Amino acid sequence: MRRRAARAKATTKQRRAQKTPRVLIVGFGRVGGALARGLVKAKWDVALLPRSQDSVRRAALSGFRLADHDDLRAAQLCILSVPDAQVQNAAELVLEDLGPSAALVHCSGAHTLAAFGQAAIDSRRLLGSLHPLAAISDPTDPLEGHTAALAATSPVLLATLELVAKALGMNTMEVPETGRAAYHAGAVLSAGLLVSLADGAVAALEHAGLEREQALEALLPLMSSALRGLSTRGFARGLTGPVVRGDVGVVQAHLDALPPELGSVYRLLSRRTLALVGERLPEETKHALKRILA
Ligand SMILES: NC(=O)c1ccc[n+]([C@@H]2O[C@H](COP(=O)([O-])OP(=O)(O)OC[C@H]3O[C@@H](n4cnc5c(N)ncnc54)[C@H](OP(=O)(O)O)[C@@H]3O)[C@@H](O)[C@H]2O)c1
Repeated sequence: MRRRAARAKATTKQRRAQKTPRVLIVGFGRVGGALARGLVKAKWDVALLPRSQDSVRRAALSGFRLADHDDLRAAQLCILSVPDAQVQNAAELVLEDLGPSAALVHCSGAHTLAAFGQAAIDSRRLLGSLHPLAAISDPTDPLEGHTAALAATSPVLLATLELVAKALGMNTMEVPETGRAAYHAGAVLSAGLLVSLADGAVAALEHAGLEREQALEALLPLMSSALRGLSTRGFARGLTGPVVRGDVGVVQAHLDALPPELGSVYRLLSRRTLALVGERLPEETKHALKRILA
């Protein structure tokens, strides 16, 4: 019985080894670290190619396998997890040593597949992108449950990237090459700029005389509750606040109280709110809000 179980386990292992490509990750920063962690956990064959001595030491200390020349030759999927501006340099760094059938993949949200540069395009290998829609501020941040935006020059590579995402517990979506910058702007609005918005909200509370730390501690659960409302009830029904209630007096008081820079942000976002809920408000209220938010 035990022997049969062991045989079944070995077969599963073999099947997995056949189906999953050998991965080379170039760059051991936040995304490289998170991808390596996730794929090693899923028992994929992963070798790392960090750049600086410090990154080499960190990768080795974390127990990752450092790539040698054979790993570069044998890699089937080479993921460049380097800063956007370094994608072409990193591609040129590995191109000569990679096997001819190894696909090159970047993690940039803003860049198209042209970012690999002409030498990579001329090499006629498959090119792709896997952009995790996650704010990864540390390599130990989880990827599970997030979406990976995929692009590829062939359906074969697209299928492989879907396999990568599945192994990481991620959902997937395809982004058209022509919409790359707009897509990434949306991603930034929802993540990094949400943090900047939190900074603005904290500044408003500081303006009211509260301490910065205390303000952030109080506002973070409020922000989470707004996202919870959006997630469970959608845009229009998840919204709260004076614009939704049609409270012109309170909106005017806010605008009078805020420093000019925050007032501009408040106006801009409130116009967006009005567009979402305006139809529910009496015409007169809607016009009054439009006027003070212009
Ligand atoms: N962080 C996020 O939230 C996030 C989310 C989605 C997508 N992305 C994308 O993921 C990619 C990587 O971002 P990241 O946040 O992981 O950056 P990061 O933390 O700064 O890490 C980048 C790594 O690339 C290495 N590197 C830099 N230039 C290189 C080169 N020319 N050749 C080889 N290695 C090089 C660096 O090596 P050293 O350590 O040796 O300096 C560093 O470890 C970017 O395309 C970014 O847009 C990031």
